[in-house]
Amino acid sequence: MKRLNGYPDSFFYLLLTAMFACSLSGLAMYPWVMEFKLQWELDFSLPGSLRQGIVSTHALSASILLILLGALWQVHIRAGWRRKENHFSGSFMALALLLLMLTGIGLYYLSSSNSQLAASLLHSALGLGLSLSFIRHWLCGMQIRSAHIRQVKHRRKKD
Ligand code: HEM
Ligand code: HEM
Repeated sequence: MKRLNGYPDSFFYLLLTAMFACSLSGLAMYPWVMEFKLQWELDFSLPGSLRQGIVSTHALSASILLILLGALWQVHIRAGWRRKENHFSGSFMALALLLLMLTGIGLYYLSSSNSQLAASLLHSALGLGLSLSFIRHWLCGMQIRSAHIRQVKHRRKKD
């Protein structure tokens, strides 16, 4: 079955890979947020030697996601928006990606420790929201597509 109408299948698999890499590397950083930003005492922690690999995977996959968002905007988002299908989780994801970009920049450049903490917590919450919405959006998207295919088959039978 063809994936994401209007895009080559390779686009869909690149989107999936970037989303999983970004979400997994993001989730892997939560213990560091708890330990270093929230000052919680944790019994478990990832070794610091993994940090460089995780952070670079995160930055690379996040940049790819933002590039893909630009391409999704052109066809996918406009088409779904016009039909008012899957648009709650879709709009949330588009907005979350933009806010993740802003808070991600904040993590690098905000100077006061309070605003750093706010950016970090907002970023972590939005990241979790994005990952969960993506799963929901994908599952609902598959149902919507199957319903379209059934409608087309039904119409062809009638003609
Ligand atoms: C307002 C914004 C959006 C709307 C209205 C929307 C709408 C839809 C609709 C109607 C479908 C099912 C039909 C189809 O495949 O075209 C769908 C599927 C999908 N959408 Fe969206 N979308 C939005 C944003 C996004 C964003 C930001 C992403 C990625 C970050 C995304 C990723 C997907 C994926 C992966 C599928 C499943 C495709 C498949 O299984 O082949 N969408 N969306
Ligand atoms: C396009 C989307 C995203 C962008 C642009 C982005 C960007 C960034 C950047 C620049 C950093 C700083 C890395 C460093 O410490 O040097 C970061 C850290 C982080 N990201 Fe993301 N990210 C995105 C998506 C996500 C997602 C989906 C999640 C969670 C599932 C997530 C969770 C985190 C966490 C927990 C940190 C560590 C925060 C801290 O050290 O205070 N991010 N992100």
